[in-house]
Amino acid sequence: MSAIESVLVENRVFPPGEALTKAARISGMSAYEALCAEADKNPDEFWGRQARENLLWSKPFTRVLDESNKPFYKWFDDGQLNASANCLDRHIGTPVENKTAIIFEADDGAVTKVTYKELLARVSRFANGLKAHGIQKGDRVLIYMPMTIEGVVAMQACARIGATHSVVFGGFSAKALQERIIDVGAVAVVTANYQMRGGKELPLKAVVDEALSMPGCESVKSVFVYERTPTACTLAVGRDKTFTELLQGQSDECAPVAVDAEHPLFVLYTSGSTGKPKGVQHATGGYLLWAKMTMDWTFDLKDSDIFWCTADIGWITGHTYVAYGPLAAGATQIVFEGVPTYPDAGRFWQMIERHKCTIFYTAPTAIRSLIKASETNEKVHPKNWDLTSLRILGSVGEPINPEAWIWYHKHVGGERCPVVDTFWQTETGGHVITPLPGATPLVPGSCTLPLPGIAAAIVDEAANDVPNGSGGILVIKKPWPSMIRTIWGDPERFKKSYFPEELKGYYLAGDGAVRDAERGYFRITGRIDDVLNVSGHRMGTMEIESALVAKTDLVAEAAVVGRPDDTTGEAICAFVVLKRSLPQGDEAREIAKQLRDWVAKEIGPIAKPKDIRFGENLPKTRSGKIMRRLLRSLAKGEAITQDTSTLENPQILTQLDQTY
Ligand code: PRX
Repeated sequence: MSAIESVLVENRVFPPGEALTKAARISGMSAYEALCAEADKNPDEFWGRQARENLLWSKPFTRVLDESNKPFYKWFDDGQLNASANCLDRHIGTPVENKTAIIFEADDGAVTKVTYKELLARVSRFANGLKAHGIQKGDRVLIYMPMTIEGVVAMQACARIGATHSVVFGGFSAKALQERIIDVGAVAVVTANYQMRGGKELPLKAVVDEALSMPGCESVKSVFVYERTPTACTLAVGRDKTFTELLQGQSDECAPVAVDAEHPLFVLYTSGSTGKPKGVQHATGGYLLWAKMTMDWTFDLKDSDIFWCTADIGWITGHTYVAYGPLAAGATQIVFEGVPTYPDAGRFWQMIERHKCTIFYTAPTAIRSLIKASETNEKVHPKNWDLTSLRILGSVGEPINPEAWIWYHKHVGGERCPVVDTFWQTETGGHVITPLPGATPLVPGSCTLPLPGIAAAIVDEAANDVPNGSGGILVIKKPWPSMIRTIWGDPERFKKSYFPEELKGYYLAGDGAVRDAERGYFRITGRIDDVLNVSGHRMGTMEIESALVAKTDLVAEAAVVGRPDDTTGEAICAFVVLKRSLPQGDEAREIAKQLRDWVAKEIGPIAKPKDIRFGENLPKTRSGKIMRRLLRSLAKGEAITQDTSTLENPQILTQLDQTY
């Protein structure tokens, strides 16, 4: 049994510190409970009050929730606002205007700072550049950028003119980019010549060029290229402009365009249980409201905080807790271009010390890999840095195992900082189940309790509540402002995926969960659909299977399952039937490499299967259904307890035992 498994259950409870509780925005459990009661009693009044207090409206709303076309809920829908004005302009004329908005640390350690006033000027200039290229309200702009101030500027500039952005993580392939460009109907792409990660210069523009040379991308009329490094890249005459050209002569004033609260702020693609990624569409008003509120609540944000969320803007965490939330809340935040292990695995701790970070928010995978690194190299252990500036730690993206939690709490947080284990999803827009640092007694491995206004529950397949202690399906029973509005271009799939009829209109999260008997605390037990979570990145098994079988010269059939992994949480395991004889030894290793490279090209390196196993067939039932449970046991290396008597060819189990 690994060390991590051996402490799966940790029963210690960590109450919030007295000083923190005293000064907290939500101070103590009674304050939390009072907010929950308020939200429960009259949701319209509660959310209406929050929306008026937390956002600036160009046109005040008169309706809070419109439920007339369930599950297509509308919030604040006769109101108008601008997201960028709510993140930037609102601070002008207040002491925040000269406060540092972003402390940017590049891969090589160079630091650039920008104040709110300067950021507003940069966003406005960029917005004017977009307008000069005919981009306007309602257009979709695809952003394929490294972690930079410019990436945030591009997102904010789209919001400023009412264009809907769709950010694609810089690790996705040309093919993945092409699919998203087509699906969202992008008119422009914002990218960089290269990105710097771990001391390496990696191409971005070349990937965009490749995507745009594929069929179906004719909607893209302009490509804007940030010159991140001095290395030249090709520029198509008439279509491509460097940022220098885009911004030249543009004014640094640009009036924000007021949009309806329901106007789509962005579409962000994420994996579902079928092959095709889903374009999760978020609305301007409700999304921004929750981004701001959860900054205040979950992180107990103070004016003096230096906030650092390590997520990339290509993921929802980087949208809500880098591009929007911290700015709407007037925080100073750190934006980091590089990777946690370069120049060594002490980088995060060094940066916390250097920038006097007070709130640090990262993923369990990162913590686990840094634990491992510090076990083999004392010099990168957090004890080598002064981390006393920290006051709150956060975790996101996957379950945090109690051992990693305890290490994080002890060695990073000096046993003084609460660890908020925030459960949420691309679809929820912001945190939904999470501790509050100045209220909730913490139990490692538990995301504890729903935020006020979030009606999270655990039910059975017929939507009946299950008693505490019994596992079930995680649902949210009532709508909330930052919820997904639809799947871009596919409202039917939206209804089917998130509001299946048998669940009586509850929102289906797609995770299993259990509440403990003592406190009713939630613990997420993992996805109940065909979605994997690899290093906090969401991957659909079908998506990877489709990529594998698209290699038509080699692959006849493929099945992908997840297995637990000490560092990445889950690892991808692919079972492959080739169109040729069963390979062995070096030949099998060579084919496995070819397949991994192929998947990296089809989707991106994050989707590469860690394990590949070859068989002359896959284990199937008599009706021809792949026995996935059996595959999961094989992937885990578990003894097979399932009935295998119906297998046509039992010897394939021995074949499938070999990992390449
Ligand atoms: O399975 C849950 C897991 O990540 C999924 C959502 O992935 P994504 O949309 O990419 O968003 C990740 C960042 C919010 C969930 O369905 N997940 C997320 N946070 C946690 C978690 N699982 C357990 N504990 C968490 N704190």
